[in-house]
Amino acid sequence: MLTPKVHQDHEAMSHAAADWLAERIAAQPDSLLCLATGSTPLRCYQTLAGYGRSLFERLRVIKLDEWADLPMASPASCETFLRTHFIEPLCLQARYTAFHSQPPDFRTECERIAKWLGENGPIDLCVLGLGLNGHLGFNEPSAFLHPHAHIAKLSAASLQHTMIAAEKTKPSAGLTLGMADILQSRQILLLVSGPAKREPLQRLLTQSITSQYPATFLHLHPNVSLFCDKEAHPKSI
Ligand code: GLP
Repeated sequence: MLTPKVHQDHEAMSHAAADWLAERIAAQPDSLLCLATGSTPLRCYQTLAGYGRSLFERLRVIKLDEWADLPMASPASCETFLRTHFIEPLCLQARYTAFHSQPPDFRTECERIAKWLGENGPIDLCVLGLGLNGHLGFNEPSAFLHPHAHIAKLSAASLQHTMIAAEKTKPSAGLTLGMADILQSRQILLLVSGPAKREPLQRLLTQSITSQYPATFLHLHPNVSLFCDKEAHPKSI
């Protein structure tokens, strides 16, 4: 059962999340860590990066998702977000695997990531944010879900995400790990923060499992830790 651990505010949630990750990385230093991007996990990553490099000398990282067709170096890309806040401060470039946002061929790029994860997975620790429409990565609400790395048609909600608000040319699609990749993670940390996420969190906690709200599939996973802050916590739960 998904039971939120409620923290006082975003900062407290972020510190608790960083501690949660640090404890598990210390127990298994060569863990494969999958990282979402967005406003929710930012302080967690900055806090974790501040713990110093020695904890992360064997850590492996995979990027959860990316905006298709945004240049990798764009300030709005997931790549720039992760490199700036986590990969470069901890010098993890050599053990970092990520979708390229402008590959010669998107399908081949998804196959490359799927093959890598098949050979190097499963993910040990998966950090997720909750989309306003219940998406995880770019596993968007749909009649069906994809198991592995794939090209995703972006929902209207994703196209309005704050990361790309200033972009004149919107991404053509999303590149994302699939629901099986996420659900095969040994441990999942779902972070939910801010008043805008209260209704999405309430829906996650009360909704039956449905591909129209992909986060509900987390109810099938035996080891999900759900951290939220007070602003995101539905009062009625
Ligand atoms: C974005 C990203 C996800 C992220 C989610 C929530 O579209 N693709 O990886 O977890 O939406 O983002 P935020 O934390 O900014 O609300």
